[in-house]
Amino acid sequence: MESIQIDYPMSLQVIREADWEGDLELVVAPAEQEKGLQQPGTKTGELLLVETAQRRHRLLVSLGPPDKLSADALRHAGGAAAKWLLKRGVKTAAVQTSPLLNLEIETALEAFCEGLYLGAYHFERHKSKKEVESPVQVYLLAEGRAESLDLPVRRVSAVAAAVYLARDLAHEPPNVVNPASLAERAQLLAERDGLSCTVLGETQLREMGAGAILAVGLGSRTPSQMIILEYPGQPGHEGEAPVILVGKAITFDTGGYSIKDRTGMVGMKYDKSGGAAVFGIMQAVAALQLPTPVVGIVAAAENMISAEAYRPNDIIRSLSGKTIEIISTDAEGRLVLADALSYACSNYRPRAVIDLATLTGGIVVALGSVRAGLMSNSDPLAEALFSAGERTHERLWRLPLDEDYFELIKGDDSDIKNSSGIRQAHPIVGGIFLKQFVPDEVPWAHLDIAGPATTDKDLPYCPKGATGFGVRLVLDYLQRLG
Ligand code: BES
Ligand code: ZN
Ligand code: ZN
Repeated sequence: MESIQIDYPMSLQVIREADWEGDLELVVAPAEQEKGLQQPGTKTGELLLVETAQRRHRLLVSLGPPDKLSADALRHAGGAAAKWLLKRGVKTAAVQTSPLLNLEIETALEAFCEGLYLGAYHFERHKSKKEVESPVQVYLLAEGRAESLDLPVRRVSAVAAAVYLARDLAHEPPNVVNPASLAERAQLLAERDGLSCTVLGETQLREMGAGAILAVGLGSRTPSQMIILEYPGQPGHEGEAPVILVGKAITFDTGGYSIKDRTGMVGMKYDKSGGAAVFGIMQAVAALQLPTPVVGIVAAAENMISAEAYRPNDIIRSLSGKTIEIISTDAEGRLVLADALSYACSNYRPRAVIDLATLTGGIVVALGSVRAGLMSNSDPLAEALFSAGERTHERLWRLPLDEDYFELIKGDDSDIKNSSGIRQAHPIVGGIFLKQFVPDEVPWAHLDIAGPATTDKDLPYCPKGATGFGVRLVLDYLQRLG
């Protein structure tokens, strides 16, 4: 069995300034002047190494234009510093915290540390020669107030570890991560972190009548799995209504008989990014011991072609009892999510349901990789998620869900169709389809993350590949719940 161990290229620890004896200190510097002897430059993340009086070194990290200073500029600066340290094989470094604590941004220290962690990320498990050979230990220097730094550092470490897990899982190739091995990983994660884990395999799904998630996996050697991770909440909160997170985890999406072309298929290992985010979030929820109960449901399947595979014009019966005609076997994400949403709403009394899915190419056309699509039946939930997106820089944009769009997928010979078959409003139609499986009284939001779940170029604190989008966003939302 594959391990769930993650190799961290960096670790953070708080120490008293008086105890630091190393050579290299990181100091953030507002960049008001041109690059000069004591100025790293004007652009965010520009770096300058200077020698100090005691023949030690100081790495000045530019925060960019002061009028543009933001939490994200700090993440960017942290990411740039992390890359610099790893590239040079630095073993230890320390961060001067007072310049960060003196900034007008409350969460400056956390944001900078988040950037450090996330900027250090690499997916090298399958490379014979590793770029990052040994990890760097970064100390946060505290002037006597070490305890006040402990909590933020613990929080950042938990959040960053969650993003690492989400990125790692998304990166794993489809011959390593399939619905069965994903379920095994969930069980290991649950055992290690004190979550409970239930895996509904082929037999149970069939007995339950979850015909939608099963249909998608029919062509695969590894049948579909519904993976449920439960966090009970802190003592005193156990009976409360949980927030339920539902993730699409198509471990590979060939499109099925509605096959993708050779360029459209490459990268479809990332079609499990929503489920990967749910894994990461559940790990952090346990690490942070959040007050609220949280349930993660990962709908896993592999969309393949074989004599057993489902096909266009099949009519299947979903867990809700609604029948669905398959128009496109490539609109498989909504099928696995339909059963997961029905399961969530009939087995729990959710406080809110949030699904994360790389659902449509159309959302990439509309919003690119900058923002994810947000669709919801609840204004307060949509607003809370939107603001979490602005704070974490995992940004969202809301699209409408007017009932009129339902016309496009009203069934001819079935209750509903899984696709309209025409090129109109794909992301919204996806949202309207999912809405059919959530009772109106349950606050629900759908995040179509197909754009920002991956990046085709290195970003300031994320290398090319999986971004772990949604992890920081949802954790911010969960941490603010009363
Ligand atoms: N996994 C894809 C969506 C996707 C496309 C994610 C590009 C990331 C990048 C999804 O299953 C899909 O194929 N959707 C179809 C839906 C259509 C048939 C209604 C699409 O977007 O074309
Ligand atoms: Zn598809
Ligand atoms: Zn897909």
